[in-house]
Amino acid sequence: MAWFNLRRGSTQRASNDPTGDEAIPPLRVLAARHGLHIGAAVSEKHLREDPGYREILAREFNMVTCENAMKFGPLRPSRETFAFDAADSIVAFAQEHDMAVRGHTLIWHMMLPQWFRNAGLSYDEAIDVIRGHIHTVTRHYAGRLAAWDVVNEAFEDDGSWRETPFLKMLGPDYLSMAFHWAHEGDPHAKLFYNDFSADEINAKSDAIYEVLRELISQGTPVHGVGFQMHVNLENPPRPKSVAKNMKRFADLGLEVQVTEMDVALDVPATKRDLAEEARLYGDIMEACLGTKAFSAFVTWGVTDRYSWIPLQFHGKGAPLLFDDEGRPKPAYFAVREALQKELKTVPT
Ligand code: G3I
Repeated sequence: MAWFNLRRGSTQRASNDPTGDEAIPPLRVLAARHGLHIGAAVSEKHLREDPGYREILAREFNMVTCENAMKFGPLRPSRETFAFDAADSIVAFAQEHDMAVRGHTLIWHMMLPQWFRNAGLSYDEAIDVIRGHIHTVTRHYAGRLAAWDVVNEAFEDDGSWRETPFLKMLGPDYLSMAFHWAHEGDPHAKLFYNDFSADEINAKSDAIYEVLRELISQGTPVHGVGFQMHVNLENPPRPKSVAKNMKRFADLGLEVQVTEMDVALDVPATKRDLAEEARLYGDIMEACLGTKAFSAFVTWGVTDRYSWIPLQFHGKGAPLLFDDEGRPKPAYFAVREALQKELKTVPT
């Protein structure tokens, strides 16, 4: 069922379009009117195997993030080898459908290959290996990526440094080193720091703010901050605090992005929870639209079916804009409505 003509650049909805109103363009068209990207995290497997997944992605989004394919482990089966095929296929799809790409992620303590964990690298060896990784990967994608999550999740919730292998090997300077190496590899990509549970004003976002302020004062090429926005209904983010938090980072001269939003619900999801989820998505999008330097809103997946949430949290799921069958949920319409509203106030 061709809901959407996938030919490059075509944004005409077909008459049987599932979002119910042919007159309203896809999210990507509405976002572009705000000069924004709206994106989704993409798995190479599902992109390859599921035509409905591909159709929704190309129809509704103008940005992709590789969910796993550009992480250290998947890219580096061994110290001597790089495995780019999976990520290359996602980048190729994005280029075919006029979509921007976020690289995720050069430095993260998760999904590190065993050879790296077990290598017992000295300081100098760690410099060589990590600089080599960042240079090779950023050069491979240079010119094709809009942004990189250079460092992901370097801080604990209390604002202390996370004891990652990178901190242990290189000390806190690893942040600055990573950003400089990424910029050397791809001078055109916008370089982001990315984290979770830092969406509002709190000890963690305070620590990130101070570190990024210092990096910027030292001339480090850091261009943006990514707020992952992995949230739930039990303890939802307060849009006013999110907006205040985003503003202070924007005031540093940084781009601000929501990079991984999903809202974990108890499943099977009730109509009430789906409505609450929609309200939260719409409120966060509105908070973002009112923030200057806000440039992208990415959900952590395309359809509920393939979300990481049920795998990670038993009894939770239904976190995204499209359900297991690829049908738009109330959250989709809430995001669409927020994008359709003209900006209420000039971005502050
Ligand atoms: O590909 C292998 C497969 O061959 C194997 O059979 C299977 C079972 O062991 O594992 C598969 O790899 C899994 C991979 O996802 C692909 O499905 C890994 O075990 C699993 O750990 C990995 O989980 C990912 C997780 O990051 C850890 O890297 C999730 O998909 C991904 O959604 C999640 O995303 C992170 C962001 O990168 C950073 N922010 C938090 C977010 C959620 O944790």
